[in-house]
Amino acid sequence: MHLLDSPIRSEELLAKTINIRHRFYASSSEPLMLTELIAMAENNGDQQLVQHYHDHSLGYADNGGSWDLRQEISQLYDAGISAEHVVVFPGAQTGMTLTAQALLQAGDHAIVITPSYQSLEEGAKLAGCDITRVNLSPDDHWQMDIDAVAAAIKVNTKYIALNDPHNPSGAMMSLDSKLALVRLAEEHDILIFSDEVYRWLEHDPLTRSPSMASLSNKAIALSTMSKPWGAGGTGIGWVVCQDKHICSKLLKAQHIYAVCFSRAGEIQAMMALRSSDIIIAKNIQIIHDNLALLEQYFADNADIFEWISPRAGGTGFVKFKGPISANELANQLVEHEILVFPPAIFDCDDSLKQYFRIGFSRTTMPAALQAFRLFIDQQRPIWGKRVGA
Ligand SMILES: Cc1ncc(COP(=O)(O)O)c(C=O)c1O
Repeated sequence: MHLLDSPIRSEELLAKTINIRHRFYASSSEPLMLTELIAMAENNGDQQLVQHYHDHSLGYADNGGSWDLRQEISQLYDAGISAEHVVVFPGAQTGMTLTAQALLQAGDHAIVITPSYQSLEEGAKLAGCDITRVNLSPDDHWQMDIDAVAAAIKVNTKYIALNDPHNPSGAMMSLDSKLALVRLAEEHDILIFSDEVYRWLEHDPLTRSPSMASLSNKAIALSTMSKPWGAGGTGIGWVVCQDKHICSKLLKAQHIYAVCFSRAGEIQAMMALRSSDIIIAKNIQIIHDNLALLEQYFADNADIFEWISPRAGGTGFVKFKGPISANELANQLVEHEILVFPPAIFDCDDSLKQYFRIGFSRTTMPAALQAFRLFIDQQRPIWGKRVGA
């Protein structure tokens, strides 16, 4: 398969909406400002790190991420994960595609849990894998059907790629179901690739369960500064795996593709990680405030929308019960300066053609919801009795 064989599903939509007023689809947290970050580091008494930021070499940073950053990242995980189990990538997207390239080969089979972020599946396809999709369903509250995963396993299955907490639904796997998946994968000698970029954004932090990377040494977990910390501009993502042999393959892959890191980005990421409590509490508060508005809106408009409350992250997948498809609804919304993600972005099958993704992790969401409300109210007389059909 060639890199550009599959259409990039969000490309056209994002290109034509570059200046759109309401980004009601956005999934990353409120962007951090550099001044804010430096002030936090100073408040933490991290003057040395601030000094280092103003004073660092612009030569190459270390392949796989500098050791100080890898140590800082490892502290986000349970005991058993240390700096040597962390490989830093330029963003999560590079992490997911290069991991697949490094660990899979032509003729392998991979199971991908869908709907999912496009690169999760593309990475495995590009590595030459045959793919089987296992769909999550709103009928199961977007919970993974472990029996369906088991049924999809073939003799050459090498990889199960999933995203938990889940974009777009905001669902979370239970610990029992994570453990059942780990048992299944270990029994069949299959690697689990767990995209956990929305971890640490659980709406109730007490519901957070261990990372897949802590549950099995054959599981690889992915994360990024862009979601919980709102610091995608640092260009820092990472994968974590207890198996050092796997980590060394990832370091080799990185040598080939992405050796050039930004030390400035690494230092910014360290500043943000050291202020995680403050930054994440602030971002969860934004999510809670926005969710309160959304819960009310969808309760008041239950004839036309079905809303399953998300439990983590800043995205939700809403069912539209009106007389047009969710793709068409999204097109009409764009005409009114509102961008939501239609099901086509996730290549959803027909059973999900009435679902669209919204994002609620930014302070701009209330204005987007207000514009959305006005649009829907204007359409109601046009849609008439067909609403809720
Ligand atoms: C599920 C999921 N994984 C990975 C990514 C990529 O993260 P990054 O932009 O930090 O590379 C995203 C971004 O939206 C995502 O939603």
